[in-house]
Amino acid sequence: MAGRFSGRVAFVTGGSRGIGRGIVELFAEEGARVALIDLNEEALNETTSELREKGYEVFSKVANVVDSEQVENAVKEAYGTFGSIDILVNNAGVIRDNLLFKMTDSDWQTVMDVHLKGSFNVARAAQKYMVEQKYGRIINISSTSALGNRGQANYAAAKAGLQGFTKTLAIELGRYGITANSVAPGFIETEMTKETAARIGITFDQLVQASVASIPVGRSGKPADIANAVAFFADERSSFVNGQVIYVAGGPKC
Ligand SMILES: NC(=O)c1ccc[n+]([C@@H]2O[C@H](COP(=O)([O-])OP(=O)(O)OC[C@H]3O[C@@H](n4cnc5c(N)ncnc54)[C@H](O)[C@@H]3O)[C@@H](O)[C@H]2O)c1
Repeated sequence: MAGRFSGRVAFVTGGSRGIGRGIVELFAEEGARVALIDLNEEALNETTSELREKGYEVFSKVANVVDSEQVENAVKEAYGTFGSIDILVNNAGVIRDNLLFKMTDSDWQTVMDVHLKGSFNVARAAQKYMVEQKYGRIINISSTSALGNRGQANYAAAKAGLQGFTKTLAIELGRYGITANSVAPGFIETEMTKETAARIGITFDQLVQASVASIPVGRSGKPADIANAVAFFADERSSFVNGQVIYVAGGPKC
């Protein structure tokens, strides 16, 4: 299929729903072959079948980004299936929100593990192939919460950490034709934000309305808004854009 990503292979973690799925769909629509890993087997199978029905070439595997062996195997298999790994999007994520005094060790550790160790595991596994190819695009999904957000000491620290991680990959890997950049979404309508509404005891509509009230463009974000920014960094022509963070939030500080 012709398109901006024709001939490219995009590996997306947490690709079975929400923002990850939006990213996978954009890459597939624009010609890439896509590899998805996710913990959620049911959602992964459903998404894989739907994409294949549309005629896209898809590799998918249940894998936990926190487990380096599962990650190594999944990346190796995807490479074996498609013959390259050109684009990596570290998107898999979880929230365990709580005010600091109520935050448990497990709330803290889970969030650090999935976002930071997960992104480290997958980037380390993928760079081997990217360095050999002398080509790669790594995009890490951060968040506006990196700037601080009540109830998210763990998540804010992890998402800010991902930005430092991104900049370091940019410095280390640039010489191999690999760029690393980060997209930091604001409020996006997904299962994750639905969980937030449930946790604070309001309906999703109420949460959307409250969020929209402080978003300059007057609407909430959709997965496609994030996919669009990811695609900019993933584009072959973006080879001089390296180590950057773009906030995609409908305004400068949402
Ligand atoms: N929704 C938002 O408003 C928002 C805002 C800023 C940043 N983000 C970030 O965007 C990314 C996607 O979020 P979303 O809203 O689509 O969430 P989501 O919960 O809808 O999807 C996350 C996906 O990641 C998968 N996942 C979770 N832990 C995993 C693990 N250990 N290994 C493999 N897969 C795992 C889940 O199964 C799920 O399919 C996350 O990194 C999130 O922190 C979301």
